[in-house]
Amino acid sequence: MESNVSIDVLMEIVKAGGNVTTGVDVYNAGGVLLLARDISVDTLKPLEIIKRNGIGSVPVDTDQNGALLDSDGNDINLDAADAADGMPEDRALPVTAMPVNVRAVGMGSIFPDIATNEIEVRLVEIEEKRRQAMQKHAAAKRCIKNVLRDIQRTGGQFDYTEVEKTVSDLAEFLIVGENPFSYLTQEIFSYDEYLYNHSINVCAIGTAVLHRFNQQFSKIVNDHIKGGMAADICNPFAGEAMQGGHGFNCYYPHEIDDISLGFFLHDIGKTLVADHIINKKGPLTGIEFTEVRKHSYEYGMTLIEDNQIRNATVKNIVCFHHAPLHVGEENAYPKVGDYTTIPIYTRICKLADIYDAMTSRRCYKEAINPVNVVTRIFRTYAKKDRLLQYILHAFVKSIGIYPPGSIVFLQNGQMAYVLESDGPLVLPFTDEKGRTLKYKPDPVIADFAYNNHLYAVDNRKSVTSPKEVYNVLPGYLRDFLVMPT
Ligand SMILES: [Fe+2]
Ligand SMILES: [Fe+2]
Repeated sequence: MESNVSIDVLMEIVKAGGNVTTGVDVYNAGGVLLLARDISVDTLKPLEIIKRNGIGSVPVDTDQNGALLDSDGNDINLDAADAADGMPEDRALPVTAMPVNVRAVGMGSIFPDIATNEIEVRLVEIEEKRRQAMQKHAAAKRCIKNVLRDIQRTGGQFDYTEVEKTVSDLAEFLIVGENPFSYLTQEIFSYDEYLYNHSINVCAIGTAVLHRFNQQFSKIVNDHIKGGMAADICNPFAGEAMQGGHGFNCYYPHEIDDISLGFFLHDIGKTLVADHIINKKGPLTGIEFTEVRKHSYEYGMTLIEDNQIRNATVKNIVCFHHAPLHVGEENAYPKVGDYTTIPIYTRICKLADIYDAMTSRRCYKEAINPVNVVTRIFRTYAKKDRLLQYILHAFVKSIGIYPPGSIVFLQNGQMAYVLESDGPLVLPFTDEKGRTLKYKPDPVIADFAYNNHLYAVDNRKSVTSPKEVYNVLPGYLRDFLVMPT
């Protein structure tokens, strides 16, 4: 049965800890998919996006697996009148101004005990997103640890089904929430578990960028190709043979799972590279470089064959995630005759890989400030190829110009930590002279249009590596940067 339910009612259900599945794809007036039919929504963001698109109510089709569930997983039955007008009093769900599961925290935390203004509400939302992200991250980390351990024990075999299940769950979380990857861990000050976190981060960033690309650019690219309007745009369908016969043009939820799986496993071949090379602190010799480069095409393919993985999408990502993004790109491998045959999702994997590698600390280098990395990637690849420009725009839209985790300067000389790229919402941690603040600061929206110009980001100054400012970071911020696992 299909009934129209107001967005406000759906939001109340989610606020009360329930979840919502429409059973019907929800599009905006421009034909952009806002919510896929089979996604279980348990955060407000997707519903807020639907509302911002001017949609007041959406159909929920219980015959197509649509469901409204309360926090205990029980069906909520709304008849048509209730749904349109709001719920009757005796069945009204509790309305809260904040997400559920708000943790009371001490004065040392950046999170408020009670949200009393717009910024504090956002902080509470960030904390809730971090809590959810930590749970997903922990599950994904257990999974990738098992995979790598199994490969080492057996010489190549691992439980592919378990990985599929874990990544599908992670992908759903990443697509429904607005950039929840921002709340996953980053190796800024340590590198103990780099390969595990890298697998999860590339999966998270790649999935978010891919989702954004689908929403914003797939139609444009298709129109170019169908109309034959632009000879200079490379043809993403040219790689069909490599992709196993399916063209990639717009949002297909079943493909997203496969692609996310490929992102997650992209560096699986590194398990066959000797540890002393992977963990070498100094520069690699030519022979060692050649060995590391084997991790994608040669060793990756070996593991795919050993495990009889027939998924062409996973295969493509594992083998070609270091292939060229444009004609003449140096240091790309393996050599491919025509770079335009590399599917869009594999190119997105490469960008996510570069971003995470640069923003992480490794045994041979410090992490680079994420805000600098975004600029560097954009400058390196913009104008090289028209399709790549669309991918880059989706990348920057997803990561943000000021990615969370970046250190920025404000116009008044204070240094601040970026909590959310939207705004951006930043937490100042020094005074104008660069001395650590002795009090708990209020976060500010560091935008000229929103705030006093003194608190806007000053793009003329930057910190190359977060390590440079480690000594002036207050304890509560250091705690925030280290995610318990
Ligand atoms: Fe790689
Ligand atoms: Fe990688």
